[in-house]
Amino acid sequence: MFKRYDMGIDLGTANTLVYVKGKGIVINEPSVVAINVETEEVIKVGNEAKNMIGKTPAYIKAIRPLKDGVIADYNIALAMLEYYINKAQKGFTFFRPNVVVGVPVGITEVESRAIIEAGNEAGAKRVFLIEEPMATAIGANLDVEEPSGNMVVDIGGGTTEIAVISLGSLVTWTSIRVAGDELDEAIIQYVREVYRVVIGERTAERVKIEIGNVYPDKEYDELETYVTGIDLSSGLPKKLILKGGEIREALRPIVMQIIESTKNTLEKTPPELVADITEKGIITAGGGALLRGLTKLMTKETGIDTLIADDPLTCVARGAGLVLDKVSILSRLRRNE
Ligand SMILES: Nc1ncnc2c1ncn2[C@@H]1O[C@H](COP(=O)(O)OP(=O)(O)OP(=O)(O)O)[C@@H](O)[C@H]1O
Ligand SMILES: [Mg+2]
Repeated sequence: MFKRYDMGIDLGTANTLVYVKGKGIVINEPSVVAINVETEEVIKVGNEAKNMIGKTPAYIKAIRPLKDGVIADYNIALAMLEYYINKAQKGFTFFRPNVVVGVPVGITEVESRAIIEAGNEAGAKRVFLIEEPMATAIGANLDVEEPSGNMVVDIGGGTTEIAVISLGSLVTWTSIRVAGDELDEAIIQYVREVYRVVIGERTAERVKIEIGNVYPDKEYDELETYVTGIDLSSGLPKKLILKGGEIREALRPIVMQIIESTKNTLEKTPPELVADITEKGIITAGGGALLRGLTKLMTKETGIDTLIADDPLTCVARGAGLVLDKVSILSRLRRNE
């Protein structure tokens, strides 16, 4: 039987997810492509490519084609999108799919066009762009069409998107290029300054996920993990033990920037909507929402209960897929025809 696989795509800085209507999330892989630098041929996409980061011979390069939530390397991003759209459809289908892609708020005209063109070239029939916070809110099951304020804070790899939504539109929003990558970077800096040891990006990310935390708590203090890096003075490998308490100190300043932006967004929001948000709470999503103690710190700093969306890493893709059934919102989205 010929079927059309309409889909929602979260083309994230860190991860690409594809949600297919009636099937759910069918793809969830890192936004990484390994290419042969001599022939420019794509060697691997996704998980297999990510495993190559920092471990490739000279002729292979593992590339993250998105940076800060937008396409940094067009050809590679296109190859990745094509690969995932085809994979989501499992090869040949008669109908070209309608595709909704989540994009950061405030991306430029050129950036929008690049994504729409990539979607077209990758075989989509209609390509819609949805602002990521709107997709996040829909994916988090918030009723975005009611006349009531909903606030979402999506902390991804490259960007944090903060927005207040009411009556199917964004009312106030902020997008900052401070998110998971900066948290990893803060760990790298910390280890370099305190221990004079250089660790890699993947190691830093592992430390963040294993023992990262931002709220004082005895339980967090006791977390620990090993890392191996290069000693700056000897140039030789060195193994270190890192503790929860010190990683908290390294991560707090970055998280405080996210919280400050959340407060600024609230300050710009009309009081009636702030009152609604105070009732319902702030909803966090994206991988950064999982950082230990983040919602607690945000609750304390904003004075508003902060919660984590169900399945925070898949909100954008699910929301982008579900909007295909919300005609009033869909009709307002930027699209290719
Ligand atoms: N348990 C965890 N604790 C802290 N951070 C986490 C955890 N799990 C994942 N992350 C981080 O979340 C980030 C990825 O989140 P997500 O998939 O939402 O980003 P993205 O959508 O690809 O990026 P963006 O929205 O910026 O384009 C990475 O930086 C990853 O290290
Ligand atoms: Mg994201």
